[in-house]
Amino acid sequence: MRKQNQDRTLETPAPGKKKKITQYFDAIGQRYDLADTLMSFGLHFSWRKNSLRQLDIKAGYRILDLCGGAGEFARRIAGTGTKGLPVVCDLSRTMLATGKNKSTGPARQNRIQWVQSDAEQLGFADNAFDAVIVGYGIRNLENLHHGLQEMHRVLIPGGTLVIMEFSIPQNRWLRTLYHWYSFKIMPTFGKVITGEKAPFIYLAESIRCFPAPERVQRILESAGFIRVTFQRLSNGLVTVYSATKQNNIFTSKLPA
Ligand SMILES: C[S@@+](CC[C@H](N)C(=O)[O-])C[C@H]1O[C@@H](n2cnc3c(N)ncnc32)[C@H](O)[C@@H]1O
Repeated sequence: MRKQNQDRTLETPAPGKKKKITQYFDAIGQRYDLADTLMSFGLHFSWRKNSLRQLDIKAGYRILDLCGGAGEFARRIAGTGTKGLPVVCDLSRTMLATGKNKSTGPARQNRIQWVQSDAEQLGFADNAFDAVIVGYGIRNLENLHHGLQEMHRVLIPGGTLVIMEFSIPQNRWLRTLYHWYSFKIMPTFGKVITGEKAPFIYLAESIRCFPAPERVQRILESAGFIRVTFQRLSNGLVTVYSATKQNNIFTSKLPA
């Protein structure tokens, strides 16, 4: 299985993936956040802080937390300080329900909206959001290009897309340790925390098959984004991408 997948990258559309992914996240949804914290050894807190800093949220900003799961980003966006207006969009009903239950306090309850929808076929109008954030989401898409086109479509011109995604560490020793951890330890660790092993085998596989940051940067550009940059965090365990939808104010045609 591992050998067979070696030549494929997640750039290639994978029919049927959506159903499998939704089943995985429905199965682990209630314990997903705990698994994220334990399995990243708490590092995800600083990764998220860094990602949100790149989003540069202003009060009243409409922000799409795409593949938002249990709303880990949305709660931070709606919490004290930023005063953004997040919409969490995800395919998994369990992830959304778990997030909704966790979102206590009037600020979060009133500000966060929860929508079950497919990232590759969003039910939002063009230019509906000031910013889009995707945490560990694009790796899971059945068709990466469709997903990116949708993110571009729903962003306002000049709006920012921030993507936080796993990547492979740069240091050779760390990379070896990481592959050992993700293939040998993580599935068992995941089963102990969530009762499920298969989603964590998929996790390790999908990280290994996902294109390198330089390639993702080019894919984002080909989806129409400009000013695409990326920053590797924790020696490349995670990469945060930032991209902008071109502001077409200067290119629009003058009335005849
Ligand atoms: C690893 S979780 C990430 C959750 C959250 N963004 C975070 O930062 O922790 C990936 C999420 O992507 C969702 N997902 C996968 N494919 C999707 C799609 N096509 N449309 C919407 N959500 C999708 C899954 O249901 C899952 O909740």
